[in-house]
Amino acid sequence: MLDSLNALEREGLDALEGISQADQLPVWYRAYLGRKGKLTDVLRGLGALSAEQRPAAGRRANEIKSALEGAFAKRQDEVREAELEASIASGALDVTLPGRPVAPGHLHLSTRTLRRIREIFAEMGFQVYEAPEVETDENNFELLNIPPYHPARDMWDTFWIDDEVVLRTHTSPGQIRCMRESHPHPIRVILPGKCYRYEQVTPRSEHQFYQVEGLAVGHGIRITDLIGTMHEFARSMHGEQRRLRIRSSYFPFTEPSIEIDMDCILCVAKGCRVCKYTGWLEIAGAGMVHPVVLRNGGYDPEEWTGFAFGMGVERPAMLHHGIEDIRHFYNNDLRFLRQF
Ligand code: FA5
Repeated sequence: MLDSLNALEREGLDALEGISQADQLPVWYRAYLGRKGKLTDVLRGLGALSAEQRPAAGRRANEIKSALEGAFAKRQDEVREAELEASIASGALDVTLPGRPVAPGHLHLSTRTLRRIREIFAEMGFQVYEAPEVETDENNFELLNIPPYHPARDMWDTFWIDDEVVLRTHTSPGQIRCMRESHPHPIRVILPGKCYRYEQVTPRSEHQFYQVEGLAVGHGIRITDLIGTMHEFARSMHGEQRRLRIRSSYFPFTEPSIEIDMDCILCVAKGCRVCKYTGWLEIAGAGMVHPVVLRNGGYDPEEWTGFAFGMGVERPAMLHHGIEDIRHFYNNDLRFLRQF
């Protein structure tokens, strides 16, 4: 019995020695140490031995079991190590290669433009007032001096939620909210945010776009304050040399109303396709807050005056970066977005 045990140990260890591939290891394990393996077979034969022979044979069988298990664990490590080394040597895995970088995102061009605008107005002492994108018809139109059936409503084709609620067509309704909240204190705020218009999408017009509204209410505020503010803004945003041109205009919520143009940054006012050969680019609609709107906001127009302006965000960014179609902004095409 002891002889056959010793022979089994020798045979097992030799067989293990000859293994060089990991997938042969479980085969060996089943053959020698498995439930139906050779060692189990021998152990089963122990019962047939005499009482004197059995203890020595049992002890030896256990010794061989641990010897084979120990040798198996060691061989397993060696084979794995050898396979890893072989695969490195064959060049399948170069652990010295740098990892693949995770591409970091960056801010959208609209967000960056908005942040720059906010920064410039912050330097001039303007705070930011956030107003909702879903507005009442009353704030969006009526309290801004645009009653039902007023022809000026045609200027804003509207997404209606129901008869009284709209997606705001401009940031101006925020003026009413801000005035009602701030009364009776002076105001100097900008109101940035998304606006929505039910209109034909073209290279210049989206159905959703950003605006930045400005509102200042106080004692003795004049139109020259408005022009000075816009001049400072144009210079900080587009360069020290910028010049402004003021044209008269019409908005129901300002009186007088003006349109503010800046000399064309692309052709330096010589005339090009972008400025339609006029040398000027429109940057904002503006004016002195209409007395009716001041009163709707809770301010007595005999005592208070104010100015307001509203400008787009995407269109100026298009000019600045030479983008020919506004639809690129929200198409989510990374080839476009990565350029800015
Ligand atoms: C207004 O929306 C007025 N509320 C501005 C205002 C505020 C005047 C305060 C006086 C006092 P307007 O419709 O012109 O005005 O829009 C202002 C700017 O928004 C435009 O100059 C343009 O840059 C941008 N804009 C308007 N419609 C679109 C559109 N469909 N797509 C992209 N930008 C647009």
